[in-house]
Amino acid sequence: MLGGQALQGSRIIAAARRELDADGFRHMAEAALRNHAGPGKLDPDQLAVFLAMLDYVRIDAEGEGGWASLCDRLEGSERMRAFYLSVAPQLFGPISERLATSGCRTPDTRLVVEKPLGRDLESAQALNRQLATLFEERQIYRIDHYLGKETVQNLMALRFANALFEPIWNARHVDHVQITVAERVGVGGRGAYYDRNGAIRDMMQNHLLQLLCLIAMEPPAHFEPDAVRDEKLKVLRSLKPLDGLGDVVRGQYRGINGEAGYCEDAENPGSRTESFVAIKAEIANWRWNGAPFYLRTGKRLRARMSEIAVVFKDAPHSIFPESAGGTRPNVLAIRLQPDEGITLRLTIKEPGPGGMRLCEAPLDMTFAETMGAEGLSMPDAYERLVMDVIRGDQTLFMRGDEVEAAWRWIDPIIAAAEAAPERPQSYDSYSSGPEDALMLMHRDGRRWRAVAA
Ligand code: BG6
Repeated sequence: MLGGQALQGSRIIAAARRELDADGFRHMAEAALRNHAGPGKLDPDQLAVFLAMLDYVRIDAEGEGGWASLCDRLEGSERMRAFYLSVAPQLFGPISERLATSGCRTPDTRLVVEKPLGRDLESAQALNRQLATLFEERQIYRIDHYLGKETVQNLMALRFANALFEPIWNARHVDHVQITVAERVGVGGRGAYYDRNGAIRDMMQNHLLQLLCLIAMEPPAHFEPDAVRDEKLKVLRSLKPLDGLGDVVRGQYRGINGEAGYCEDAENPGSRTESFVAIKAEIANWRWNGAPFYLRTGKRLRARMSEIAVVFKDAPHSIFPESAGGTRPNVLAIRLQPDEGITLRLTIKEPGPGGMRLCEAPLDMTFAETMGAEGLSMPDAYERLVMDVIRGDQTLFMRGDEVEAAWRWIDPIIAAAEAAPERPQSYDSYSSGPEDALMLMHRDGRRWRAVAA
């Protein structure tokens, strides 16, 4: 589907330095679409409509070349303009400037940028300042594609459309929260970028902290951009600063069975960059004081699996005899991928005549099944977010002050990691990460959930 009526009359103009014309670009796009969809899967009429929307202009991001013809193409159209900068971050500034000086920018123009949004607080502030001289905050769409994931949005529905959870959504009832974003892929192919950043900058500063915010935030007054973002900002500002690396574990994968390890993938034999990080974070406010958030993310782990698990406190007292077996804490697990869904782990009586024996059972809602749509394809995060740009809805985009608040908390962690004499702890590829990450929870009498698809 092409977003129906909303997109009728719209155009997608690719602007890049490559020597290409509109037909060449359409061919490229068609080949990519066919490859993505698989043989015979594209509706020829829809494909034709889509390809007719495409155009191409050659531009020089840092020079004068091409900007006038880009503006010419836009001339005469009343439609909203969205410029999606899929470029290296050092070009955000120069391109925004060209958009302004060449006359491509209109009062309703939207600018879409994606991480890295700076590499520390100072550079993030500089970028925000620079963009603010050219665009108003309401025009800037900072993408964090995790916010576009279907289950992440469902998390807000779960919390704020069901009265059930709010009374127990606090440290009195929640023991701790675990957020895991595990990937099976390594960094091969983008080693140079990755080696300059590492898991803390690449994932923790943005995706994981955004997930933490959605779990921890107070109910916003409305589901509106600033109401939601104000609440997320308060969470980021309540994060207890970490002193040193006592609550941080960094790891680096080593190859197994002849496969390359991190340093070979990154083509940097002595690299000290982490491909895994686990952090125990604490939120110093009334709701969460005493219930830590354990966050971990890494490459080359056992499975591709992202989930948020809210682990509740155990029943305060068991009325059952020992022979019934113990109770286990309830866990609300929100699976982001794969197999999006929500599971609530409960303790029930084992069915049958054998007397009272307790066992665990999941209340499972796998979206594809529950919504009665086997084979339903979940929209890609970017599909949703690009539509939101077109609709002019910033709710799922980060505001400048949020990005800065996240860096403010992350900066000292990176500084401590860079100053630390020891290298990241190595872990086997396709394992669940370094030993020390397990210890981070064991020492608190807790354990991570399994990394399994
Ligand atoms: C990107 C990171 O933001 O997110 C990548 O730069 C990572 O390193 C990717 O692989 C993960 O996204 P997803 O949607 O596949 O979980």
